[in-house]
Amino acid sequence: MTTQSNKLLIEGDAIDLRYVRESDLERYYTFIQDAENTRLTGTQKEFTREEIAAWIRKIGVINEDRVDLMIVIKETDELIGEVVLNDIDSINRSANIRIGIQGTEHRGKGYGTEAMKLMLRYGFETLMLHRIELGVYAFNPRAIHVYEKIGFQREGIQRDVLYWDGEFHDSIAMAMLEEEFRSHRLRT
Ligand SMILES: CC(C)(COP(=O)(O)OP(=O)(O)OC[C@H]1O[C@@H](n2cnc3c(N)ncnc32)[C@H](O)[C@@H]1OP(=O)(O)O)[C@@H](O)C(=O)NCCC(=O)NCCS
Repeated sequence: MTTQSNKLLIEGDAIDLRYVRESDLERYYTFIQDAENTRLTGTQKEFTREEIAAWIRKIGVINEDRVDLMIVIKETDELIGEVVLNDIDSINRSANIRIGIQGTEHRGKGYGTEAMKLMLRYGFETLMLHRIELGVYAFNPRAIHVYEKIGFQREGIQRDVLYWDGEFHDSIAMAMLEEEFRSHRLRT
């Protein structure tokens, strides 16, 4: 792993994680508009290209409370998604994690599992976090499977948090603690 301000590069087998660059604008804008990703992450707002350009300037540099890393194909540097540690709380050593991968051609190939594991390792071993949590909608069995396979524990249900397509949907709260990360890593 190379760490030097926003030059951070986390190297995996099939993918790498890196900070976003201004030159990623078109690709990141396409990712943000992906309909399946939007539905599964419950993103209600639509963004303009200008808003996305401003967002890239914000997340492309070091922020105290968040680390937004792009998931890129190792061989080509093609941007296929992002994995984000946000709401980083240095007193309680906790953070939220979220992930999105664009396009049916990129999902189901193991990239999401690998990106999550790399980011969890960065969170627990480099940022020294104690707890990493997430929320996943009950209508997203693939993501639930990936999170449980990696070692996240279910903590509860938030009822009717999302109104989508004329219906309310529940969100499942999950989290992983540092000792669970370590013991799960030993087993896998
Ligand atoms: C969720 C997401 C990150 C997973 O990444 P991915 O690269 O597609 O997933 P992987 O290929 O690493 O793993 C998929 C696993 O889910 C399983 N799976 C696929 N569809 C499934 C379903 N409908 N129900 C249960 N499991 C399913 C696969 O069999 C595979 O399991 P395995 O590794 O045990 O064989 C990715 O699909 C994504 O970004 N989806 C759109 C946005 C999203 O849902 N974000 C998460 C919001 S909480």
